[in-house]
Amino acid sequence: MSQSPQAKYRKDYQSPEHTISHIDLTFDLHDTATQVTAVSKVKQLKKSETLVLDGEQLSLLAVEVDGQVWSDYQETEGRLEIYHLPPEFTLTLKTEINPLENTALEGLYKSGGAFCTQCEAEGFRRITYYLDRPDVLAKFTTKIIADKTENPFLLSNGNKVDSGELDSGRHWVKWEDPHPKPAYLFALVAGDFDVLRDQYVTGSGRHVDLEIFVDKGNLNRAGHAMTSLINSMKWDEERFGLEYDLDIYMIVAVDFFNMGAMENKGLNVFNSKFVLANEETATDNDYLGIEAVIGHEYFHNWTGNRVTCRDWFQLSLKEGLTVFRDQEFSSDLGSRAVNRINNVRIIRGPQFAEDASPMSHPIRPDKVIEMNNFYTLTVYEKGSEVIRMIHTLLGEEGFQKGMKLYFERHDGTAATCDDFVAAMQDASDVDLSDFKRWYSQSGTPTLKVDSQYDTEAQTFTLNVAQSTPATQEQKEKQALHIPLDIELYAKNGDVIPLQCNGLKVTNILDVKQEKESFVFENVQEKPVVSLLREFSAPVKLEYDYSDQELIFLMNYAKNDFARWDAGQMLLAKYIRENVAKLQQGKAFSLPEEVLDAFRGVLLSQKLEPAFVAEFMSLPSHNEVSGWFDTVDVDAIDSVLTSIKKVIAVNLEDELMATYRVLEQKEYTIEHDALGKRTLRNTCLSYLAHLDDGNSLVHAQYQSANNMTDTMAAMAAANLAQLPCREELMSDFSSKWSHDGLVMDKWFSLQGTSPAENVLSVIKETMNHPTFSLKNPNRIRSLIGSFLNANPVHFHAKDGSGYEFAGEILRTLNESNPQVASRLIDPMLKLRRYDAHRQKMMRKELENLAAMDNLAKDLYEKVTKALEA
Ligand code: TRP
Ligand code: ZN
Repeated sequence: MSQSPQAKYRKDYQSPEHTISHIDLTFDLHDTATQVTAVSKVKQLKKSETLVLDGEQLSLLAVEVDGQVWSDYQETEGRLEIYHLPPEFTLTLKTEINPLENTALEGLYKSGGAFCTQCEAEGFRRITYYLDRPDVLAKFTTKIIADKTENPFLLSNGNKVDSGELDSGRHWVKWEDPHPKPAYLFALVAGDFDVLRDQYVTGSGRHVDLEIFVDKGNLNRAGHAMTSLINSMKWDEERFGLEYDLDIYMIVAVDFFNMGAMENKGLNVFNSKFVLANEETATDNDYLGIEAVIGHEYFHNWTGNRVTCRDWFQLSLKEGLTVFRDQEFSSDLGSRAVNRINNVRIIRGPQFAEDASPMSHPIRPDKVIEMNNFYTLTVYEKGSEVIRMIHTLLGEEGFQKGMKLYFERHDGTAATCDDFVAAMQDASDVDLSDFKRWYSQSGTPTLKVDSQYDTEAQTFTLNVAQSTPATQEQKEKQALHIPLDIELYAKNGDVIPLQCNGLKVTNILDVKQEKESFVFENVQEKPVVSLLREFSAPVKLEYDYSDQELIFLMNYAKNDFARWDAGQMLLAKYIRENVAKLQQGKAFSLPEEVLDAFRGVLLSQKLEPAFVAEFMSLPSHNEVSGWFDTVDVDAIDSVLTSIKKVIAVNLEDELMATYRVLEQKEYTIEHDALGKRTLRNTCLSYLAHLDDGNSLVHAQYQSANNMTDTMAAMAAANLAQLPCREELMSDFSSKWSHDGLVMDKWFSLQGTSPAENVLSVIKETMNHPTFSLKNPNRIRSLIGSFLNANPVHFHAKDGSGYEFAGEILRTLNESNPQVASRLIDPMLKLRRYDAHRQKMMRKELENLAAMDNLAKDLYEKVTKALEA
């Protein structure tokens, strides 16, 4: 690196010296030379005659102030400084940019044949010089000029106000967005599309045109996105009292996109993965993902756009809250328990792993080099858990009062996390002063709990001790305010009412000290305690449950999540125990009672099938890895595989009966039908390991009338390494090679193959005509899946997995640093592995560090990993 990139600190926030109230943009679109004219109304806020604008990779063509050519300026690295300016003026800037060569997919770029933009977090500065910070809110008008045949649709934020024709086959459209917004919410799209149209009438009678733009020929795959959008609009009115605020809502699906989707005002841009679906091309999980992401971006209209972030350190203000809202949306529409389980799996797996990595940070980070590196599981998912804890402490009614006050105070402005918490506290009279530490403290707290029953006094005591281990960037930790949701049960399954100091108390214990005891009175028999119900806080729980107690909770807990969690704790005990046994050369074993408990779940007629499927799903390799200081990749893999096989062998009849009985003739995405498919395919994943596995899987592939069943068969064949795997894989690729999105499923099976030669297969697959290192979805499905979900081969003892990762990262560092920076995450966790593996991973990181053009994104992560 010529100059090491500079960090920014949260504590250094300064309000802007100038603001921009209006900006008039004109885009003259051409593939390699697009001209952008920006006319801004600028006003001094603090005494300063110098205006400092952000800008990257721009050719500056002209600068004018109040209509006069202005030469009193200087272009420096990443900035334009304009001198000796009056207190108020109109600034005209002309810049030229090259969308075709923009492989980083930030700013204005071409995705397939279409022009599109991505401005969050700091991409607008690749379009023009600007005050590219979220606390500068301007009214935007946008005029787009382009070739009419290639780009019949010219879209931007707000309402279409004018259009016209030009000579030489060009035309133009002008858009006006009445809502002031920061530059990161700007969007422009130009291209040719098919459009799915619908209408929505809001509670107060506003007619909203809904338009979904997809590649030509894909209209029959946009229906679920439209349904999800309409459901989102209804739900936000019903649950949050929030209505849409423009006359048009547009969604554009593009194939080249760095993340999931983007909430640009009135014009969302989506990764086509989160729009396109029909039963032939999409799995049930794809459908659920579309519903969640469409909801997420729609909900941002209030939490993100109407109230935005003061600075990027406050990102969780909009993301944590919006994830909470989309999780609630999915839970209200589908199964609450299943949604909770899947969200908790993400926290306990990858989020806890992030907390334990060199990239650990609080949900509101204090120090950032590259903002794109902080769109993390911590900011999003843990951020949502923090909002959920506030919801738990205030209750739905108190929480909604808090939301109302938050909008009363901050609508139309840029706010902070402190502002949000203050609104919640003021509206509810719940003291959140200790709770706020969740925003500033990183790492995963551990709750160590033990209990005593006093027969004589009829009291039950819970002793709770909390501690948070030091993280790389923050050594000192303090006690947190942790809502601990509990319940006590009598042997017959009755709930024992909670009473402390003669008073009835709720299920939520306010744990605030490092060590605390809670004494419950009037407990007439030794109870079974259900702890951390609903995963009421993002912590690790340690409690010495007996097998009998866990099996009791699996059967009798009133709360579905608690039942599932008891099953997970039971499995965890035997996973740990067997890993230790294996390391000591002892044989694998799983007690009969454990198998019987899962047999009971499988046979239960009372539980919904989707929930049973979660019960029957083992924790992921990544989650299990997080339980150990040093990860023994092969032992964990071997134990998880053994458990799978032992369950398959012992529960064969029940699994087979369930598999048979759940067969469905027709495909629908109704909640019920989907749950049945999930359970049936979970059964298949076990049965695949038995003698008849190959014929069963093969038959399912042959008879499947939907992508869910097709993929379940292929995934089972892949993981169990069945003889039919090659036949299914080649049949699938000959059917779908024309469609990258569908082929991503195939690529990710190649990436996660347990076969010994997987790496050479992956390298070969990179020459597949459908694969491209320019497309982030392809990279993630083939290479991302290898790095993240093929631990045995990625961590191969000969270092081949690491070498491959290093090679790819060096290539992507140049073409798309944002994608490279997401891909590198598993390499940062080197310290979790044995010395031999650490050394090899370190070598790859050092190779990257030595590059003279290392992007900020990778620089930030690589230096953190190496300095640990
Ligand atoms: N704000 C977007 C969301 O959460 C995510 C986002 C941030 C993004 N930066 C991006 C999307 C860059 C695409 C590219 O919905
Ligand atoms: Zn978001």
